[in-house]
Amino acid sequence: MNVLLFGSGGRESALAWKISQSQLLKKLYVAPGNPGVMKYGDQIDLNWKDFDKVREFCIKFSIDMVIVGPEDPLVNGLADYFSDTKALSEIYFIGPKKKGADLEGSKDFSKKFMQRHDIPTADYKTFRKDQLSEAIEYLNETHKPYVLKADGLAGGKGVVIHDDLNLAKEEVKEMLLDEKFGEASSKVVVEEFLEGIEFSIFVLTDGNGYLLLPEAKDYKRIGEGDKGLNTGGMGAVSPVPFISDSILTEVKNTIIDPTILGLSKDKIEYVGFIFFGLIYTQKGVKVIEYNCRMGDPETEAVLPRIDEDLLEVLKETAEKRIITRSLKVKEETAITVMKVSKGYPGKYTKGIVIKKIDKQKQKDTIVFQAGTKLMENKIVTDGGRVFCVTGLHKEASVARDKAYGSLRSIEFEGEYYRADIGKDLGIK
Ligand code: AMP
Ligand code: GLY
Repeated sequence: MNVLLFGSGGRESALAWKISQSQLLKKLYVAPGNPGVMKYGDQIDLNWKDFDKVREFCIKFSIDMVIVGPEDPLVNGLADYFSDTKALSEIYFIGPKKKGADLEGSKDFSKKFMQRHDIPTADYKTFRKDQLSEAIEYLNETHKPYVLKADGLAGGKGVVIHDDLNLAKEEVKEMLLDEKFGEASSKVVVEEFLEGIEFSIFVLTDGNGYLLLPEAKDYKRIGEGDKGLNTGGMGAVSPVPFISDSILTEVKNTIIDPTILGLSKDKIEYVGFIFFGLIYTQKGVKVIEYNCRMGDPETEAVLPRIDEDLLEVLKETAEKRIITRSLKVKEETAITVMKVSKGYPGKYTKGIVIKKIDKQKQKDTIVFQAGTKLMENKIVTDGGRVFCVTGLHKEASVARDKAYGSLRSIEFEGEYYRADIGKDLGIK
């Protein structure tokens, strides 16, 4: 098969790495990719926003399957375009149409969906621009911490949590009236604060059955001990030791099954990944959020543990032949650690040379490039999250040592990484 993969981060590097091992693959194209994916396929200069060019490319290069890494193309209707365009409608497309992608693209939509299908989540209320006084009244009636969420996509910054009532009121005003997050905060969800441990579960679904992928824990904050600003993710671990069979059964029965059934009841066709952002509370597991894609850097920890041909299962999914089951996994622990640019998630400089990134061939580790590019034949930094290393081993502590060993040997000026990935899970 000829495969076109959209995206450029560590997640797409991991997808490209895994797909390149498939028996079914003829040729892989990654748009726009990064220099790291050239080992697995061709890096091409094609912007998903230019639907006409995407169509021309798919026809010219006889693309059989399109896989979308990030949420933006999905929320903006790339899957709808393929299904509505005669010349493209036969191409296998991995990623939901706009309606399904709204599970991530609109918090209000996803909260209503969960309420309608009895899926456990935090209590909430949604307020529009003309309902500021109602929003303030609601804040007065509830208690701290106050969780405020912009309805739409806000580049991972749309969730704000305040302990102070006045700050929360000011925030909701800024979101609704001052359009702090633009159109994304023209509606705001105010929800109950949930206390517990977060983890992520992923499925690949054809809308009827689903394949359960290995679970992961992500490290969202920039600082060690989970302090400081939220980032895209500084590291990931899979499996997550505290997720027992009984927790997993609860997640399947109360969350995954009702979600898949709910999509079908609501007549929302869904072919693609669903990422369940979950929290284990004293009142059971609840959904914090849905994403219509895989996580980054969770993918970099999850895919190396999968012991099946990914392209084969993606094809089965696109052909709607899925019978619910768990994917075969390697009984090994994967630990992924990100190296980021100094200043991230705030301002940072780009264009700094990364030493020895293309010379890494250490056993039991995989380097996934993320924010990198080629400049005068050198690989330089081109983003906040620059690259990550996944260590994979039967012994979790060995996987951790390997990941950090390799990560430390690839250097660039102003680098930063968290040295505590996995420590909270007892992996030292
Ligand atoms: P989201 O973008 O919805 O995943 O939110 C980002 C982060 O905010 C989550 O990973 C949680 O750490 C936190 N968060 C979101 N909603 C809640 C909530 N209701 N209670 C506690 N923490 C939350
Ligand atoms: N690592 C969190 C995310 O991909 O949304």
